[in-house]
Amino acid sequence: MSLPLDRLIASLTRTGMTRFFQKLFAEFPDLLMKDQTVEAVRPDRTFRMNGTWVTNFGSDSFLGFDQDLRVQEAIEKGVRDWGTHNGSSRAFSSVRPNVAAEEKIAAWMGTEAALIYPSVTLVNTGALPGLATRHDAIVGDQFAHNSIDEGMKIAKARCVRTAKFAHNDPIDLARVLDGLRPYRHAIIAVDGVYSMSGELPPLREFQKVAADRDAILYVDDAHGTGVLGERGRGTVLEAQGNYDNTLVVGSLSKAFSCLGGFVAGQTAACEVLKLRSNSLIFGGPVPPSYLEGIGAVIDILNSPEYDRLRANLDANVHRLTDGACSLGLNVLGGRVPIVSILVGAEEQTLQAGRFLFEHGYYVQSVIFPAVAHAAGVLRIQVNANHTAEQIDGLLEALAALKQAVTLPAAEAAVIRFPAVAAVPEPIPA
Ligand SMILES: Cc1ncc(COP(=O)(O)O)c(C=O)c1O
Repeated sequence: MSLPLDRLIASLTRTGMTRFFQKLFAEFPDLLMKDQTVEAVRPDRTFRMNGTWVTNFGSDSFLGFDQDLRVQEAIEKGVRDWGTHNGSSRAFSSVRPNVAAEEKIAAWMGTEAALIYPSVTLVNTGALPGLATRHDAIVGDQFAHNSIDEGMKIAKARCVRTAKFAHNDPIDLARVLDGLRPYRHAIIAVDGVYSMSGELPPLREFQKVAADRDAILYVDDAHGTGVLGERGRGTVLEAQGNYDNTLVVGSLSKAFSCLGGFVAGQTAACEVLKLRSNSLIFGGPVPPSYLEGIGAVIDILNSPEYDRLRANLDANVHRLTDGACSLGLNVLGGRVPIVSILVGAEEQTLQAGRFLFEHGYYVQSVIFPAVAHAAGVLRIQVNANHTAEQIDGLLEALAALKQAVTLPAAEAAVIRFPAVAAVPEPIPA
């Protein structure tokens, strides 16, 4: 007789989402570029996958700090000085590098304080529910990152009212907030850079809506931290000119190429979040070595080298975006290091990724549920250390792709992320 665990797993394999993927895996086994193993990495933005060396256009390390010897040495020194992990929740104690990294992040960001969590997911599932009580409301952009969604679900389970508003739409935000009243406070949760499309939110307009409605702005700037804005402080200060009425969430894993996430803002806010974030209280911290690495990254961001790296990155982003637009491709987003090209159907998106891989370029084929069904994209992540030849080579491969796979023509050079149905067609059992 089967055990309850066997029956549970059997039930889960019959859910709509699992069947959707099983059907895809069965129909297109050789197209799938998912769950691959990177076998070796070189400093020139190439890696080996499936025995083939390809140029990597799928890394969040936008300024190449993953290969920076100063960052690597700081991490190695951290291991020598502090061991591999301090093995204690921060509710009991924090190692000196943790406190020092928070002070350094706050000084660099220009906020009173910062609070480090082990990841941005753990910020959004700890701080977001921690900010609200049953008298309050949280509203999230419909395309905000999955971890914001998960944080909202935890808050909802604790009787916080939650709702979504239409993507990047201040009018709909106002409508949704008005519909949730009466509440005591409201939190508006958005991404600073939309990770699948490269779009930016209209933060100033959102602040106007917030000011009239007892709301604060919570911006998950995971993809802006360390790479956009002055000295890499991200998108918020650049868009708003200040941090008033805003909590900024940043990533220490993406452009920083270390580990962790943080909230930056007022000291009082960080203090209260330390007491109200279950993910921080009941989980372990970032290892000391990575906290040392974070300090080394901030030293580079505060030096003239940041300007040089940003100039290279911007030139590469423009070269790729202009080239893709002149090929007539449907380029999404707004000239940030994430350049997404709309493909559409899941099968074609996977086919397109496979085609580019075979031509020597790794980009991510992003399909449902990371984007809406039938709105698959090729997500290209540009690096400051890509050479002009590597960018031009990818453009040549994209030109060849256009001949091989039907791609949607560009309606405009840069368009908004399409709002198509959020769920796939039901699959017959
Ligand atoms: C906007 C956003 N938030 C959160 C995350 C998750 O970050 P982490 O890996 O630190 O949990 C991502 C990852 O891509 C992201 O794009």
